[in-house]
Amino acid sequence: MRPTQAPFPATRFRRARQSPATRALVAENTLTAGDLIWPVFVRDGHSVVEPVASMPGVNRLSVDKVVEAARKAADLGIPAICLFPYTDPSKKTEDCAEAWNPENLSNRATRAIKAAVPEIAIMTDVALDPYNSLGHDGFVVDGKIQNDETIEALVKQTLSQAEAGADIIGPSDMMDGRISAMRNALEAGGHKDVMILSYAAKYASAFYGPFRDAVGASGALKGDKTTYQMNPANSDEAIRLVERDLSQGADMVMIKPGMPYLDICRRVKDAFGAPTFAYQVSGEYAMIRGAADNGWIDGEKAMMESLMCFKRAGCDGILTYFAPEVARKLAKS
Ligand code: PBG
Repeated sequence: MRPTQAPFPATRFRRARQSPATRALVAENTLTAGDLIWPVFVRDGHSVVEPVASMPGVNRLSVDKVVEAARKAADLGIPAICLFPYTDPSKKTEDCAEAWNPENLSNRATRAIKAAVPEIAIMTDVALDPYNSLGHDGFVVDGKIQNDETIEALVKQTLSQAEAGADIIGPSDMMDGRISAMRNALEAGGHKDVMILSYAAKYASAFYGPFRDAVGASGALKGDKTTYQMNPANSDEAIRLVERDLSQGADMVMIKPGMPYLDICRRVKDAFGAPTFAYQVSGEYAMIRGAADNGWIDGEKAMMESLMCFKRAGCDGILTYFAPEVARKLAKS
């Protein structure tokens, strides 16, 4: 039971809010650069910085430029970078074989970052959509996404990423049973220290639109992802999914998207106490940036507030396209 609060005027909440000093003293949560994972888009070529139209301020970078970005991120105190490849359409097939090619873009970028910036953790994405001519995260047969066959491919993709040097594997595919298959393969393959950050509660969301442009998957995708990603109406199901993934060997779990799903973040943190992350996805970024660029909101304040809210909701960290900007701002304040 809470002790009863003295009635007004003995209790005045505004006393504690009267100055920056007292506000800092009673702040319940903090945001630091150490809470951030920075998702970046990688593309072919040399010295290429190609803007993503639907995400102002975000670029697709060639491998040499990603290495420079990783250097900057590490110097800002950002602990991890997350790689998403923009795959040339000529390399997309229905068998998705590029996904486990040791020389694919993601693996080349991983090796280059490891060599130049060994202190930053590298997270990679496990799902077939960047490599699938049909745009889905799994194999498609007669219009249906195949669960078990997809898992075999995801295991190959996982091992090729671990062999390239990935520290954290991020399965974003939402197939059932993938975490135990990946964990067993990593153990058997001599990668016992590779972590899995499971996209455990990933919703079928309209907020991924700009991302699909960024990785070039929008054009390929037929239909939607509602047979494998979650229904936004559900909350208990998220708890069951997180429990399942933790029981299969996930080290950390993610809720995605972020801001419309803060209730799920809080429930997951309270239920399991496991390292819990939220992904502030492309559409959330685009909304804040778009409104700011139009002068409708203060973009910097909205950015900082949105990230603090993830901490308040129980998240240990946030994947956000704002990561370098936030880290720069935090370093100044
Ligand atoms: C696909 C994947 C998606 C995102 C990360 N991995 C999109 C999707 O599921 O269609 C979205 C990230 C974002 O919107 O920022 N495996």
